Amino acid sequence: MKLLTPVQLGSLKLSNRVVMAPLTRMRSAAGDVPGQLAAEYYAQRASAGLIITEATQICPLGKGYPGTPGIYSEEQIQGWQKVTSAIHSKGGKVVMQLWHVGRISHTSHHPEQGLPIAPSAIAPSGQVFTAQWGQEPYETPREMTKEDIHQLINEYKVAAENAKRAGFDGVEVHAANGYLLDQFLQNGTNHRTDEYGGSIENRCRLLMQVLEQVIAIWGSDRVGVRLSPYGSFNDMSDSDPISLFNGVIDRLNSLHLAYLHLIEPRSTMAGGSDQVAQDMPSTATLFSERFEGQVLMAGGYNRDNAEEAINSGHADAVAFGRIYIANPDLVERFAANAPLNTYDRSTFYGGNEKGYTDYPSLN
Ligand SMILES: Cc1cc2nc3c(=O)[nH]c(=O)nc-3n(C[C@H](O)[C@H](O)[C@H](O)COP(=O)(O)O)c2cc1C
Repeated sequence: MKLLTPVQLGSLKLSNRVVMAPLTRMRSAAGDVPGQLAAEYYAQRASAGLIITEATQICPLGKGYPGTPGIYSEEQIQGWQKVTSAIHSKGGKVVMQLWHVGRISHTSHHPEQGLPIAPSAIAPSGQVFTAQWGQEPYETPREMTKEDIHQLINEYKVAAENAKRAGFDGVEVHAANGYLLDQFLQNGTNHRTDEYGGSIENRCRLLMQVLEQVIAIWGSDRVGVRLSPYGSFNDMSDSDPISLFNGVIDRLNSLHLAYLHLIEPRSTMAGGSDQVAQDMPSTATLFSERFEGQVLMAGGYNRDNAEEAINSGHADAVAFGRIYIANPDLVERFAANAPLNTYDRSTFYGGNEKGYTDYPSLN
């Protein structure tokens, strides 16, 4: 099947088109350092054509959940070096997902920096995860100043450099799922009246400035971007998603990225439930062909519909989330058309090896 054949995304040469989706597991050690167990977990999945790491905060204010890893301290870089060398020693490839949560945070995660930051001072509906693993209503974030924006762009640059030192094969800029860069793109969350708000050009400006810095470090052929048009997770909305995301993609086309990664909105709730969002448009159909480079599709894929997406030209490779949690040898299982282990949602976030490194392989 085509899913199991090689493909090249920019300079990333994948041995197959089965990609491990970015998956937050909230198991990092003190200091937000990925530990030995993370190296083992990722190495178990090294037969993926490409692994995309769990979202990784670029700075303390970028953190929104307990136990998520960072990429701004020396200890974090060293922790990630163990992960990348474990994956590489098994012949795998891995890119780091660079993350800033913006308003999806709480002061308890960064008491020294204070309130979460966002394009506009609009609190999301719903409940935030505090540093103590509690749940409470979101705080109203602080609207970012120009100085905050300049600092943020520099933090992305430093994080990109750190990811290089940690031995990654590339980076994916997380601009999806209602986190900071997505908050700037969509006008439900961006009410700014300066050059970062209003027109689509203005709302794309931060993402483009971040990408300019990240590309300066990595080269565009090792940088991907993740978007989630029509995704409602984290209380997101836009008044005209078609115009917005066509506009984003047109601008990305000029950068010659390694890939564009799109999430189907049917899976917008995947991190929290197995409910399928009904009557959602398909981002594969609406947007994949607008992008001039290679496309990764994610969200509700299995062996059959992934193969279909590739054969129909909607995807060059497919990212699998929940089923990769439970099936370290997903590629081998697809090759053998073998049954899959079922995942245990109660161990998705936090804890230890249970539900992390103890899912069995076929052999
Ligand atoms: C436990 C869990 C953690 C996730 N963490 C991230 C993340 O860190 N970054 C991200 O972009 N998406 C994240 N997602 C979304 C997945 O990457 C993927 O888009 C989603 O699960 C839909 O794919 P699936 O139907 O194959 O599970 C997460 C999903 C789950 C279930």
